Amino acid sequence: MTQSLTLRRPDDWHLHLRDGEMLRAVAPESARHFARAIIMPNLVPPVVTGAQAAAYRDRILAALPDGARFEPLMTLYLTEDTDPADVAAAHASGLVKAVKLYPAGATTNSASGVSNFDKVRPVLEKMAEIGLPLCMHGEVTDPEIDIFDREAVFIDRVLDPIRRATPGLRVVMEHITTAQGAQYARDGGEDLAATITTHHLVINRNHILVGGIKPHYYCLPVAKREEHRLALRAAATSGDPSYFLGTDSAPHVDALKEHACGCAGCFTATNTLSILAEVFEQDAALDRLEAFTSLNGPAFYRLPVNDTTLTLTKGAPVVYPEKIDAAGDTVTVFDPGFPLHWTVAT
Ligand code: NCD
Ligand code: ZN
Repeated sequence: MTQSLTLRRPDDWHLHLRDGEMLRAVAPESARHFARAIIMPNLVPPVVTGAQAAAYRDRILAALPDGARFEPLMTLYLTEDTDPADVAAAHASGLVKAVKLYPAGATTNSASGVSNFDKVRPVLEKMAEIGLPLCMHGEVTDPEIDIFDREAVFIDRVLDPIRRATPGLRVVMEHITTAQGAQYARDGGEDLAATITTHHLVINRNHILVGGIKPHYYCLPVAKREEHRLALRAAATSGDPSYFLGTDSAPHVDALKEHACGCAGCFTATNTLSILAEVFEQDAALDRLEAFTSLNGPAFYRLPVNDTTLTLTKGAPVVYPEKIDAAGDTVTVFDPGFPLHWTVAT
């Protein structure tokens, strides 16, 4: 007997599509399964203004296969020079659904991010007033702080003070990787939520470092101890509206991943839904997969749920490509390390 599972069509609340040839290679991978995605603005140069977001949106739409129904939800990259009026206008026009805060130097293409949080106060106050969510990359960049502690320290030093100083600011803690992150998101009330990636439900830091260094498991925030992975699994599979899927699918060509100074990012767009179904089934939570992939995100972003559905069927191990061709090179598809049995029906 075939087992099948039908969900409202999922959305991806944190996605890197890049630009140019890479965009053309990876956009179809997300559009195949997802109805909408929050598009990260960390291009070079970053997407800072409403006009830049509108132009980027057009390039994304042009990169989609004929007939694809995929809506890019645009974000602006917050800098110390961001103009609150431009942010408000881009939101009022319906173009921009969130603003992204990168602490300067925290991750890929974050050099234009924020060093002095006081300088962005006027923008944050305007966002609180208009209800525009702030997506936060939650890691401190202080060289004194161990990389495995940077998320927990960010909550105490940056996130909690900003939220106290800016009542009504709606915040998404992006790609949480710790038990502390999961707990803070859960206890933070309805103006706070967290995205969780597919790969952080599957790997811990041993996967990166034991038996040789595995560059395709290196991403930021870096995967933590097993106890944290288990806390994320419990959070994602709980059905709690504080948590929803943001894959953080972040393609880099293999030449730059398999490198002496390898780039951070896992590319999961191709097989995310098969992996999630396997993970939720392992945790006897298949009945809560839809909340995580398709319901909790729209509720937080105050958008309608999708009116179409997606069906997964269970059968023989799923065949998916190990790599996809992109930008004159290849991009390696995330390997969960166990067979997958749930296929997205076409
Ligand atoms: C992202 C990228 O490559 O743009 N990398 C990653 O490891 N997640 C940036 C980010 O989201 O931190
Ligand atoms: Zn990201």
